[in-house]
Amino acid sequence: MLDFATHADIAFSYAPGKVILVGEHAVVYGAKALAMPIDHGIRVAVSRDMSGRLQGPMIRGIGPFFMGDTFLDRKSKGPQVLTSALSYLQEAFSVAAEEMMIVVDGSLPPGCGLGSSASLSVALIRAIYRFLAKELSDQVLREHVLALETIFHGRPSGIDHAVVISAQAISFKHHAGIAQISPVLLSQDLQLVIGIAGPHDGTKNAVKSLGERLKRQEQAYTRIFCDLDQIAESMEQALIKGQRAFVGELMNIAQGYLNALSLSTPEIEKLCAIARDRGALGAKLTGAGGGGAVIALCDGAEGEVCNAIKAAGYQSFITTVPKAHNSPIPN
Ligand code: PMV
Repeated sequence: MLDFATHADIAFSYAPGKVILVGEHAVVYGAKALAMPIDHGIRVAVSRDMSGRLQGPMIRGIGPFFMGDTFLDRKSKGPQVLTSALSYLQEAFSVAAEEMMIVVDGSLPPGCGLGSSASLSVALIRAIYRFLAKELSDQVLREHVLALETIFHGRPSGIDHAVVISAQAISFKHHAGIAQISPVLLSQDLQLVIGIAGPHDGTKNAVKSLGERLKRQEQAYTRIFCDLDQIAESMEQALIKGQRAFVGELMNIAQGYLNALSLSTPEIEKLCAIARDRGALGAKLTGAGGGGAVIALCDGAEGEVCNAIKAAGYQSFITTVPKAHNSPIPN
């Protein structure tokens, strides 16, 4: 039973989505990657289920986020990963979870490589702790979120939830099995145009099939991961110095490599071409690929690029990544 003396009637939390500027997939194999939060995200409200149905915890998706309700019990119509997430929550929070109704809303298109699962996981855990009036340390937050991300993603590198939790631009690299995370001190706010090329087939599948191709093309793929690591290193320095044109060029080079890794699609290439034609300094896919989102760095042409993508029949919006606040990032 909930402790009615302490728990909140309703608790809210919000977490941002993210983009990966360079290093997606290569990061799983030890390369450096750069990621940034965006000003679209997911909001979670946790309250007590007043229905008396006692069907266990439930997630209700509203707005553009999810359709319908997902319950832990057998009648659930929701996606299997959400049922597994509910099962994890019930185990982690025992009886209290049975009485929780979780409502999810937000402005982040799901399944597009913009960090919707990490954003959901972080907002969810923070809201549950607030609801239960419990202290939440960074360490415990990361443990719960890693468990949820493993349900959503299979074998996550950890970059998505690292950037969502830190809410600032970060550099991320695994060294001897430990994630090295540090803030990237952007010299100025960064505006990015985001275009949605369509839903992707899931990060889990993308990571798995790349792993299979890697077995056949070990030498070529390993060289590409090495090059992407160096591109990330150069891009970090260029971001710190505010060399936007150089960053854009590096984004174009990274996109070429992602295409070589079979992660691009005709739609992604089309959106990159539209963005570059309309004056973007650089454009590339972001996240798992095989669909999902494209990011374009522009220098004043953001509106034109965004409108051109929309005119071609795709969703597009402009997002601002604030320059570094240089908060320490706990490891
Ligand atoms: O879930 P997405 O689309 O943001 O992709 C995550 C980034 C990958 O490098 C593809 C996977 C990972 O865990 O790092």
